[in-house]
Amino acid sequence: MEHPEFLFDASPKLEGETTWQAPSNIALVKYWGKHGVQLPKNPSVSFTLSTACTTTKVAFQPKATEDKVSFELLFEGQAAPAFHPKLAAFFERITPYVPFLKQHQLHITTSNSFPHSSGIASSASAMAALALNIMSIEQMAHPELSETAMLRKASFLARLGSGSAARSITGPMVVWGEHDAYPGSSSLFGVPFEAVHPVFQSYQDTILLVDKGQKKVSSTLGHNLMHQHPYATQRFQKADDHMGALESILREGEVDAFCTLVEAEALALHAMMLTSHPSFILMRPNTLAIIEAVLEFRRTTKIPLCYTLDAGANVHLLYPESEKDSVHQFITHSLQAFCHEGEYIHDAVGTGAKKM
Ligand code: PMV
Repeated sequence: MEHPEFLFDASPKLEGETTWQAPSNIALVKYWGKHGVQLPKNPSVSFTLSTACTTTKVAFQPKATEDKVSFELLFEGQAAPAFHPKLAAFFERITPYVPFLKQHQLHITTSNSFPHSSGIASSASAMAALALNIMSIEQMAHPELSETAMLRKASFLARLGSGSAARSITGPMVVWGEHDAYPGSSSLFGVPFEAVHPVFQSYQDTILLVDKGQKKVSSTLGHNLMHQHPYATQRFQKADDHMGALESILREGEVDAFCTLVEAEALALHAMMLTSHPSFILMRPNTLAIIEAVLEFRRTTKIPLCYTLDAGANVHLLYPESEKDSVHQFITHSLQAFCHEGEYIHDAVGTGAKKM
């Protein structure tokens, strides 16, 4: 049994409903490669977002049989059988830590603030919102559970659904994975990094939607490719070094050093996919066009605008709030044309999930 500190006795049967809204997050140092049960090969750190989020309601009532978790799911108002296998696997993995779930019928209603087909990963916010609802049920049976312990266990459970979901519970930044520069950091759950310079606490993230299609490589496949990867050892070491350097950059508010490090991380993530077997080219021509335009804009204006990438073609633009007007003008004038149907989403660093 993994980590008995997260175990609770089965609870009395309960009835009610709970709703949480959990944000998406964007990694600055990326998690790519895992071992054991959803444990990261290297630590990562992310900005918690505020606009891109998932809202999930869980209504629960006692049921007669207690063999496994029973649930119904409505996604954006409709039945969504495509999500059932992933959810069933998640419930199976977490029931040892929340055994009361087996005694209840769950009615899950969930929706995203962003379009499903936008290419924005929703698994982090979705798993975080679900885990928080489950913890709210546990808290009904165990009111002695402190807020900190509750959020920590929510991150622990969310991680078992999707690794990056461990970083979608609190804000403004969350570290997941052990690193000496971040006291209290753990591979089991995300911990908030609070010593963040004010400039980063209101940082902006505009997500340019380059390719709105389905992901071309699932995270599961991508993480697995790191097992046989020729550069895996160097990558994990580099991520570790980046985590160390980023701690003081974030604390001191060094925006230029931030740009250099964050862009190096984005390219390293894609370099891993370019050099795995099989390999994946997830950038599109417009991704590169945007990157080049961003570098030129930074060189000529000296405005610390930088980019980062997820495992896909979309580009996240990161910049200080004080530069919002200039950057927004630059986006509409020079970058919008590279976006699918001209679409982008303005987001910003947020404070974490909210109980509704
Ligand atoms: O949480 P997963 O298994 O979907 O992996 C996410 C991996 C990246 O988004 C590419 C990087 C990260 O740290 O979020």
